[in-house]
Amino acid sequence: MCGIVGYLGNKKAYPILLDGLLKLEYRGYDSAGISTIENNHISILKDKGRVNNLASLPDINKLSGTIGIAHTRWATHGKPSRENSHPHMDNSNTFSVVHNGIIENYQELKNFLMSNGYHFISDTDTEVIPNLIHYYYEIDKSNNNRFLHAVSSAIKNLKGSYAIEVICKLHPDTMIVARKDSPLVIGKGNHENFVCSDIPAILSYTKSFYLLNDGDIAELFVDNINFYNDSLEPISKELKNIDWDTSAAEKDGYDDYMLKEIHEQPKAIRETMGSRLKANEPCNFDDLSLTEEYLKSINKIYIVACGTAMHAGLATKPIFEKLCNIPVFVDIASEFRYRNPIIDKNTLCIFISQSGETADTIAALKLSKAMKAKTLAITNVIASSITREADYTIYTHAGPEIAVASTKAYTSQVTLLSILAIYFAETLKVDKEEIIFSLKNDILQLPQKIESILKNVNTIKEFAHQICTEHDIFFLGRGTDYSVAMEGSLKLKEISYIHSEAYAGGELKHGPIALIENGITVIGIITDANLVEKSISNIQEVITRGAKTFIVTNQDLGNHTFNEVVRIPDINPLISPVLSIIPLQLLSYYISKAKELDVDKPRNLAKSVTVE
Ligand code: M6R
Repeated sequence: MCGIVGYLGNKKAYPILLDGLLKLEYRGYDSAGISTIENNHISILKDKGRVNNLASLPDINKLSGTIGIAHTRWATHGKPSRENSHPHMDNSNTFSVVHNGIIENYQELKNFLMSNGYHFISDTDTEVIPNLIHYYYEIDKSNNNRFLHAVSSAIKNLKGSYAIEVICKLHPDTMIVARKDSPLVIGKGNHENFVCSDIPAILSYTKSFYLLNDGDIAELFVDNINFYNDSLEPISKELKNIDWDTSAAEKDGYDDYMLKEIHEQPKAIRETMGSRLKANEPCNFDDLSLTEEYLKSINKIYIVACGTAMHAGLATKPIFEKLCNIPVFVDIASEFRYRNPIIDKNTLCIFISQSGETADTIAALKLSKAMKAKTLAITNVIASSITREADYTIYTHAGPEIAVASTKAYTSQVTLLSILAIYFAETLKVDKEEIIFSLKNDILQLPQKIESILKNVNTIKEFAHQICTEHDIFFLGRGTDYSVAMEGSLKLKEISYIHSEAYAGGELKHGPIALIENGITVIGIITDANLVEKSISNIQEVITRGAKTFIVTNQDLGNHTFNEVVRIPDINPLISPVLSIIPLQLLSYYISKAKELDVDKPRNLAKSVTVE
């Protein structure tokens, strides 16, 4: 969940490292630090607080080294404090390390090191790494590449996940990096090399990347990089070009990334559709090679993910079931992985992850593979960890999503899964041409329809100001509107810190209505003509008990006394989540702004949850 950056070249390292950290701050922002080497000495500057706090420390300009490592932290072991901030050093101040991940056996390693005379300054799991490297460096004096061998020996002892960068004052022209279950990429420049946990951090310096696999180690110099596998055998790596537009990772005139990303949804969805969807042609997923025979052989589909990505699964379960007649189970990855799910070779498991780095989702995927199910990953990040594990990968192509609260990733995931459901139905040759034709046209019109919603935000803004001081808000919906209620509620919690709950309309009288009292806000989503009367009855029931209501709808609701109604364009309810979520994203955004909160970096959260 932390962000790491590294640089070696001929320029001063610290400005490049700070710039990278600022771009990575969405991965964690409770402390930050930098180490550079100057005159065979490692300098460290670190503190709790955000990257701008680090940048304002008086000694920052003294970091003159041209090789350095940097970290922005999301605390796991040890509270945010200077001592617990990275980089960490070994006891002899020879090695400096930044680490993303969790060392599960750190206590055991700490005991071992303490019995060998080492002492510890921080409460972190990471501090065992530089000391372990020092331990192996000292016992392997005859080796002619001691630094590399010491790092390799140290990481062989680590259980858990890590992406590390290591520098050593005795090898001032070298950086060693390694990864297991945490992201790490190397950017190749002209007489300079970069390292980062996430491509946007260094996109303005290079578009050429080497992607490390689990177990890989790289030894970097200014003009050369050596790659090794976990047995330290040399391996070769292909240089990949990532053609993301640099401005995609910038705010581009918007106040916040979240607002920018909300407004990018029409473009993101056009990219997601790409060449896969055309009105009068079968959908194109040639890259999948899932045959009619295979699809006929599967008796269930599991969609497994976390948070918003899991909500995208819930939103699209109905379209798969309706078009393909295959039962679909949607599960939370952290539950699925420990529940002995009943899956086998006749199960297709779909894993959704914007970042492609979510620890629970990747673990669930590995489990499914071991149980012989076919695995399909849907992700936004090219070459992310999940893509290296799954049998098949399809990309949402939504462009980098920086704000912690996911917006455009959700709508592109729902769009892509809907197109996938149509593709499965076409491959299975189901007799549903009429509905498939109409759904395709509806999906093709999504970008224009989102644009029209984004042009009329005043009602949403005003309502946000009315309710921004509330403590409890309820969301109600039926069918796909219920899945949107859950996503709307998650968005609100994340960035406004207002407690909220989402309920299926039919559940109201089974308990939650007891919470409705005078003045409470209830947000209703109503997009399905078949359910409109039932949903209105639920809303009436809460109005009778004094609730204030905000309704997102494309239906004719007749004469009712709702406080605010936001109309969205008409669309098939099977794909209406792509539209009905937009006013709810905006509502959360404007509430957060009205409360003067940090929209992009909400408290306690980080963008990628790369640890359990
Ligand atoms: O990168 P992933 O899609 O795997 O992330 C899953 C969740 O952590 C993520 O959707 C989270 O719930 C968002 N912050 C929601 O806005």
